[in-house]
Amino acid sequence: MESHIGEHDYAKLLQAQSHIWNHIFSFINSMSLKCAVDLGIPDVIHNYGQPMPLSKLIASLSIRPSKTCFIYRLMRILIHSNFFSEQNVTEKNELEVEYVLTDASILLLKDNPFSMTPFLNAMLDPILTKPWYDLSAWLENDDPTPFEKKHGMALWDYAGHHPNLNHFFNDAMACDAPFVSSVLIEKYKETFKGFESLVDVGGGTGDVAKAIASSFPQLECVVFDLPHVVTGSQGSDNLKYVGGNMFEAIPPTDVILLKWMLHDWNDEKCVKILKKCREAITSKGKYVGKVIIIDIVISENEKRGDKSLETQLFFDMLMMVLVSGRERNEKEWAKLIFSSGFSHYKITPVLGLRSIIELYP
Ligand SMILES: C[S@@+](CC[C@H](N)C(=O)[O-])C[C@H]1O[C@@H](n2cnc3c(N)ncnc32)[C@H](O)[C@@H]1O
Repeated sequence: MESHIGEHDYAKLLQAQSHIWNHIFSFINSMSLKCAVDLGIPDVIHNYGQPMPLSKLIASLSIRPSKTCFIYRLMRILIHSNFFSEQNVTEKNELEVEYVLTDASILLLKDNPFSMTPFLNAMLDPILTKPWYDLSAWLENDDPTPFEKKHGMALWDYAGHHPNLNHFFNDAMACDAPFVSSVLIEKYKETFKGFESLVDVGGGTGDVAKAIASSFPQLECVVFDLPHVVTGSQGSDNLKYVGGNMFEAIPPTDVILLKWMLHDWNDEKCVKILKKCREAITSKGKYVGKVIIIDIVISENEKRGDKSLETQLFFDMLMMVLVSGRERNEKEWAKLIFSSGFSHYKITPVLGLRSIIELYP
């Protein structure tokens, strides 16, 4: 390739260089955010109760005196990525910066019922980030996933053997429950009317099923998951925990919930799961039973560079690296649904990047 560059190509070249740098260093956004959350910065600013001067922020953090000068720089990049905003004030004749939270950092406060901090902590834990270094080597060998190449066993088996991962992964999943259950219960309550029973397959800690069970006392709810996930969990009047394997049998029920489940599996395994769901549907209530899936439907007609599409594609790559799964567009969902014997489906895009997909036998 010629190394001589024509004058008019310089601008394009510099833009391409900048694009590459930006992508090489994209992890700095994640790691800076993780550092701020580890230090408790969103909570410190929130507890201050008004815009917080840099000096007060520094004084509230448990950092070494020799490191105080670095906080301004950490905050500067997080302002750029819209996790904080700033205003300038004059204090004792000196101009000082003050920080306030944004909608995004409010969602990282520990006591916010919608807090996404457990999800951040889990996804950026080295157990889940190290397999990314094996992505290209995995494509050249026969390991089922980069996770298995790195850790020697599948994610779900690893969680069964390592209580640490089991807990932080379950907490990460549980912190998504308040979002989803509030949408299901407040905006989508018709969906549970006339039914007598619900099984949340792969329901984890059961937070979504708990919310549904207490809002719809007529529903007998079951949280069905691997034994190491449900062992020791306490049910209630209309909620119980059942350990088992969804590839073998799913407890009979009117409604099956599959939240963030099918994106973990390849098409062949998804068809097996959906066929087991179809066998389990009983239709004892007033209406014919159904499966409710909560997952991403990739919206490929979004503009290139669109953040929502990029985030959906991040999830798709995540499923490739951690488990043998994928995110799907509507055509791919339809293929799965019809191959599993369901007659029709309805997609309702009411959950941001995710949708509710209802399947009917
Ligand atoms: C991505 S998590 C989703 C958890 C929950 N539905 C949610 O959205 O928070 C996937 C869940 O599937 C469960 N799982 C994996 N393999 C399973 C199996 N063979 N049978 C039942 N559950 C399984 C895992 O233990 C985990 O709780």
